[in-house]
Amino acid sequence: MERLQKMLAHAGVASRRKSEQLILDGKVRVNGKVVKELGTKVSQSDTIEVEGVQLEKEQKVYYLLYKPRGVISAVSDDKNRKVVTDFFDDIDKRIYPVGRLDYDTSGLLLMTNDGEFANILTHPKFEIDKTYVARLKGIPTKEDLQKLERGIKLEDGMTAPAKVKLLSGDKKTGKAIVQITIHEGRNRQVRRMFDAIGFPVQKLSREQFAFLTLKGLNAGESRELTAHEVKLLRVMAETGKRH
Ligand code: URA
Repeated sequence: MERLQKMLAHAGVASRRKSEQLILDGKVRVNGKVVKELGTKVSQSDTIEVEGVQLEKEQKVYYLLYKPRGVISAVSDDKNRKVVTDFFDDIDKRIYPVGRLDYDTSGLLLMTNDGEFANILTHPKFEIDKTYVARLKGIPTKEDLQKLERGIKLEDGMTAPAKVKLLSGDKKTGKAIVQITIHEGRNRQVRRMFDAIGFPVQKLSREQFAFLTLKGLNAGESRELTAHEVKLLRVMAETGKRH
């Protein structure tokens, strides 16, 4: 939902101020009714007319981005750091990230202008599997990793059981590579889980989101999701499937 004048401005009707004037002048209808209230909230599903002409609805787009490290999962940054939308300069739609990856985390991030789609995918009850590969300082034992498999206490409560696999451990460098699959999306969750068992994360990448992978992409590259992939994600949300 967004404010009517913002929707008009984004649709290219007029500047924000002129759009406000159009509303105050009674020239804007929402679902057939004249609306003169400036704060009125509208969504893409509302039919909006300006002086009798219906607003074009922005076409929905869905992208999979291989986010590099050192990029903010946001549409703008007050410190002028690189943001994920910088990779979509040639796209004239107002897309934003579905959930977040930390500044220092690389990997798979969905981007869309479909607010409803973004909401269902990030809703906690939609327990979608997300797989990460972490480089750890230290080499955890089976018992250490079992703590994460069972669920571990963090400051914001117990984590749900995770799937964890030691991919490699190098005794010389004292580092390990571990794959972990979780279906929650708490702030810095993977880093905090490994901190909790005493093995800090040095490098983190999200390799998989549901059935989607980074196959064929380099860091900084993106591709559109197919209509089928979008539909499958929606079906998963509706049926509670995870991958
Ligand atoms: N867990 C983290 O710790 N960081 C991320 O970016 C994603 C999951």
